[in-house]
Amino acid sequence: MDKIVIHGGQRLSGSVRISGAKNAALPLMAASLLTKDEIELDNVPQLSDIATMSHLLINHGVKLSICGTGGYDALKHRVILKADTITNFRAPYDIVRKMRASVLVLGPLLARFGRAEVSMPGGCAIGTRPIDMHLKAMQALGAEIYLHDGYIEAVAPNGLHGAEINFEVVSVGATENALMAATLASGKTIIRNAAMEPEIGDLATLLNKMGAKISGIGTSILEIEGVLELHSAKHPVIFDRIEAGTYAVAAVITGGELTLENVDPVFFSNIADKIIEVGASITYDGNIVKVSAHGHRKSIDLVTGPYPAFPTDMQAQLMALLAISEGTSTITENIFENRYMHVPELNRMGANIITKGGVATVQGVSHFYGAEVMATDLRASSSLVLAGLSASGETIINRVYHLDRGYEKIEDKLAKCGAKIYRVIS
Ligand code: UD1
Repeated sequence: MDKIVIHGGQRLSGSVRISGAKNAALPLMAASLLTKDEIELDNVPQLSDIATMSHLLINHGVKLSICGTGGYDALKHRVILKADTITNFRAPYDIVRKMRASVLVLGPLLARFGRAEVSMPGGCAIGTRPIDMHLKAMQALGAEIYLHDGYIEAVAPNGLHGAEINFEVVSVGATENALMAATLASGKTIIRNAAMEPEIGDLATLLNKMGAKISGIGTSILEIEGVLELHSAKHPVIFDRIEAGTYAVAAVITGGELTLENVDPVFFSNIADKIIEVGASITYDGNIVKVSAHGHRKSIDLVTGPYPAFPTDMQAQLMALLAISEGTSTITENIFENRYMHVPELNRMGANIITKGGVATVQGVSHFYGAEVMATDLRASSSLVLAGLSASGETIINRVYHLDRGYEKIEDKLAKCGAKIYRVIS
């Protein structure tokens, strides 16, 4: 298993091009199942989760080509998908267990073919993460659901029909599945308490380019007028706001200055505001964002929630920053019940963090010490990289395959800005 080694204490400076968002690219790729025509996606990040979604779609029969040469390892940034002949309606355990977002094939397969079989995702490192709301939404649209042998079998022999779907809890994935399914359902669907994450807006925009009739994009009420079929479209994947936020923290935690390219300021401001509150200056020039450490880093209170609240996917990174900021911060994690697995590792690097239920109390210390640590999930891993960048001495991060799920070429991007970081391949 690969490791990342960091010799901390370098002040970062330079430019980083922010990649396309993994969390947008995955549903956009799944949406290709809704049409027999070609879907061309640009700005697709080169990540292992994208390779996993590619495997899954190929397994269903989708023809997938990646511009440039090589196989999955050499994924370039344009992906062309054509789902003209679907030969297999089953999303197998072996793929779904690697990536929960595999469940996003459920809505499109059901809507276009009236059948889908998806392995239950099972437990997950950051909490139980059920998919009950995905299934209820499919049932509301007219599907019959059977659970057997660890699989969800969904059938709608007469097609799906429009419905009113009221989500009890805001769910990104359930909103995406319902949205995709409703595009081909007969009649009108209204989704209330829909997630408003920018990645959902990106999906709705592609679906409309494909001929869907979706209104209310960017709000919590989505209205979808079903159409008979969808057609080809081209679409660039929206920037990754979590990657941008991670590099912004990297600038501040090292007392440095980074220019982030390809960032939409509108969708970045809820993250930027909190980093400014800790101690940064963030300025915008079109899609270019300049982040610099500014003044003393101070404690803040942070509460995660569905967009436009502060994203849970940035909680671990902000915690690393707060751990070496003056005073006592509190973090309240409202989305996932077990998302503090980075705490013991940060504490091994000298942080003083105590958790009780969903609340973490972070007593700022002067600095991190390098240590050998273990990545436990994607965002936890990036908090360890951030801590390592600012630490005195050497940090070795094990299990970096978690990082490869969501950060494109992280060590190259950081090294280009002055970090002493390298990967040990084993
Ligand atoms: C997506 C993101 C993930 C992010 C999360 C929250 C992708 C591929 N992943 O995950 O990076 O951390 O949103 O912003 O986009 N829930 C249920 N029943 C359901 C579905 C969800 O109870 O059927 C609960 C979950 O356990 C969680 C909450 O709803 O507590 C929100 O989860 P959800 O928004 O669905 O997360 P994902 O779509 O899995």
